[in-house]
Amino acid sequence: MIRLLPEIESMLLRLLGLHDHARKVFDVRRIRSLSAQLHRLTHEFIHTKSGKDKYSDAYLAYHFPINLMKSWMITRWLQNRFPLCFTGKKTLHVLDIGCGHGAGMFGTYYALKKNHRISLTGIDRSAVVLKACRQIAFLVKKDDSRLRVTLRRHQLDGALLLKTRRKFDVVILANALAEIEQDEVIPKKYIGQIFRYATDDGIVVIIEPASRILSRRLMRLRDSLLQEHTYHILLPCLHERTCPLAAVRKGKEWCHQSRVWQPPHYIQMLNKTLHREIDRLKFSYLVLSKRKYRERSRSDFLVVSNLLKEKGRKRCYLCTPTGRVELVRLDTSRNLQNDDFDRIARGDIITLDDVKRKRQDTWRIEPSSRVSLKPSMPW
Ligand SMILES: C[S@@+](CC[C@H](N)C(=O)[O-])C[C@H]1O[C@@H](n2cnc3c(N)ncnc32)[C@H](O)[C@@H]1O
Repeated sequence: MIRLLPEIESMLLRLLGLHDHARKVFDVRRIRSLSAQLHRLTHEFIHTKSGKDKYSDAYLAYHFPINLMKSWMITRWLQNRFPLCFTGKKTLHVLDIGCGHGAGMFGTYYALKKNHRISLTGIDRSAVVLKACRQIAFLVKKDDSRLRVTLRRHQLDGALLLKTRRKFDVVILANALAEIEQDEVIPKKYIGQIFRYATDDGIVVIIEPASRILSRRLMRLRDSLLQEHTYHILLPCLHERTCPLAAVRKGKEWCHQSRVWQPPHYIQMLNKTLHREIDRLKFSYLVLSKRKYRERSRSDFLVVSNLLKEKGRKRCYLCTPTGRVELVRLDTSRNLQNDDFDRIARGDIITLDDVKRKRQDTWRIEPSSRVSLKPSMPW
């Protein structure tokens, strides 16, 4: 089960004054006040697309750890599937555009710090969130003298222009594109511009909220980029054909992640009056590169639905180069070779061997088929 990194949890409890260390209890009044702030933050954000400066502590308490874990998770998947993205680099330079409190870059840092020296650069237009980000950087650096953090206040314009002499190995836009560009279409030129800040073998990570509108916008960007043959999609897609989800169910499907996690106790307390679905990390994302890192495997597939349990059978949907495929297993076919199928979740990658292709869009797991979940994540 995924849990908030303990060092982040204790840092947040301290920074936000949520824990009465002398009495070893949570400060319930502070939790109630942050809960009320979160309520107002959501309300104001829906109506005015602002509020993060005013309710910076509420954002730090709730959205920062959730967003940090998303970026941490994506970096772990990348490390697992495309280790070459990071190997051979003594110092990894990371640029976080629209960094806010730094969730994107610190998530990447915590995933990579064991094997690399890290240098983080965060850009944001808000002095308030950068101040909070600076405090976090100060505390994180106390435990890691090798870490470098540079924060710059800068309002990016429609061309995403940024003066920088250095190139970065990882460029992240975490929940920032939705604010920087609100049109239905994300201009392709943005991606070209962002890649100008990346090294030749660098990667660009875009994380967006899991809403249908924003996820489909990202799916459209993916498909339009592939037409240019300049970029490769490393994740979440395992092929570079048109996104099969774009056309199914008259545009009602959208590619997104929904990962079960164990939110820390203080977030559960914050949520008592908010009633949000906090036990899942939901987001959509794209990892792009110019360099071709992918080693294609014809037997690996991305699961794009939850496991659907019905009387006498289980099924799910897979993303394949030839379209969305329904994968079915009758309960009578269950055995040790295919019991990983019972554990799959949306976003997993599975390897299939010897499944029966009944139709182009319906495959069946037989007693002789092999199903294995990968990558096996050391959570
Ligand atoms: C939703 S927050 C995301 C913050 C952080 N990346 C995260 O994932 O928690 C979006 C951030 O983008 C910044 N931002 C939005 N438009 C910007 C622009 N044009 N130039 C610079 N920063 C911008 C905002 O100030 C805000 O901190």
